[in-house]
Amino acid sequence: MKIMMKWLTLTLISSLIAGCSMGGVTEESKESSPENVMNHDMSGMEGMMDGHMGHNNPLALKGSKGVNELSIPPLLAASTSENVDYTLTAQKGKRMLLEGQETETYGYNGDFLGPVLKLRKGESVRIKTVNDLDEDTTFHWHGLDVPGDVDGGPHNPLKPGEERIIQFKVTQEAATLWFHPHPHGKTAEQVYKGLAGLLYIEDEHSDRLNLPDDYGVNDFPVLMQDRAFTPIGELDYEAAYNSDGTLGDRLLVNGTLDPKLSVPQGKVRLRLLNGSNARNYTISLSSGDTFQQIATDGGLLNDPLEMDSLLLTPAERAEIIIDFDQLQDVKDLALVDDQGTILLPFEVNEKKTSNKLPADLNSFAVTEEERNLPVTKRLELFGMMDMVTINGKKFDKDRIDMTQKVGETEVWELSNKPDPMGGMIHPFHIHGTQFKVLSVNGEEPDDNLKGWKDTIALHPGDRVKIAISFANKGVYMYHCHILEHEDNGMMGQIEVN
Ligand code: C2O
Ligand code: CU
Ligand code: CU
Repeated sequence: MKIMMKWLTLTLISSLIAGCSMGGVTEESKESSPENVMNHDMSGMEGMMDGHMGHNNPLALKGSKGVNELSIPPLLAASTSENVDYTLTAQKGKRMLLEGQETETYGYNGDFLGPVLKLRKGESVRIKTVNDLDEDTTFHWHGLDVPGDVDGGPHNPLKPGEERIIQFKVTQEAATLWFHPHPHGKTAEQVYKGLAGLLYIEDEHSDRLNLPDDYGVNDFPVLMQDRAFTPIGELDYEAAYNSDGTLGDRLLVNGTLDPKLSVPQGKVRLRLLNGSNARNYTISLSSGDTFQQIATDGGLLNDPLEMDSLLLTPAERAEIIIDFDQLQDVKDLALVDDQGTILLPFEVNEKKTSNKLPADLNSFAVTEEERNLPVTKRLELFGMMDMVTINGKKFDKDRIDMTQKVGETEVWELSNKPDPMGGMIHPFHIHGTQFKVLSVNGEEPDDNLKGWKDTIALHPGDRVKIAISFANKGVYMYHCHILEHEDNGMMGQIEVN
């Protein structure tokens, strides 16, 4: 079946190289009903083709009808037992995601997705991780500075029924991070079924800023994931599978289909996370109003940045502030993507919230010294479908690709080598640390890259220099965060010693 699909795809690609008109394909993909199993393979393939072409209309996403109040994940409560602070269990479940249809899912401490784990800089935490699934999993803390042996990469699997207490100290500044599984070759499927949760870090500095931080009142997690449901309402990863990144036509926000969010009048903070396997979102307000970006993947920006749109590739986060008092017209207001698709409609309620936004948020800086360091590591991303590589190689768990000294800053040059088809965006992620973006194609990076990052979108042909150092020792993964690319081997490992 898959071989057949690949053959068909390659045939299509060669005919496209000759003619290169995507119009017809795009039209078809809009019409093909994903509930119709007969169309499924074709629509998946179109998504792949479009995605690969850098076409900005992959398998179309249905807009939110705004009928369900956005689900707000619970904050993970401290454990009552003596020797651990928190417990996280990966488990199977069932959830009514679609009306009247039960879906088999995975979740942490529940049926689908996970709670929000709130930690403070400086604290030491012991987390009991439990695997109640029928298959191996791992607990990876995406964006967290931790030693390699607790990072939860593919080297640290938990077998079904196993549990492990891990311990680490929170050493980095306030940020919105997340956690998800990372078992070798199975990451994409496990995330697809529902394993993902947010991890917040707070610190004394962020306390003093008086940013909106009333959880679920004026400070909301917004975890965006696209999914394809089968006619009987299941999340069938095999059926939806696309080697260039599995897409769905339905958007789940915090696990809610057709969501809407009731917000108070005043400033509201949204912690956006693209938790999709492969879909990119270019987010803006339907009214065309601007919003303020205040944080990147790994911390606050120095100043609130006025934006009218924001690209989030898989695994990237951004915190934004929308001031619902300052908007001309809040009727039918929504977050939309660049196709005008409604992602999250807002309903402004009677409550008032009155935070001022401070002008100075952080003191992030790239030093002269970092700017003048020579490039010591080069990583070239290349390929499509399951023919994806980094420096011409696929992941091998028994091969260490690079080493770096703990605490030492090096400059890496990342590049995305286009292929004859034009290439595609690869969101590149490095475990165990946050890095600084020095330049993009030899130029100053955009203002919203002037903050800590752990994932960066490389467009075809891009050359990005980053300054990176690891505070802890261990073996860490770096990879494309299109989860199917990662599972297909677009991943390498660095040993920090
Ligand atoms: Cu989100 Cu290897 O990580
Ligand atoms: Cu990670
Ligand atoms: Cu990729």
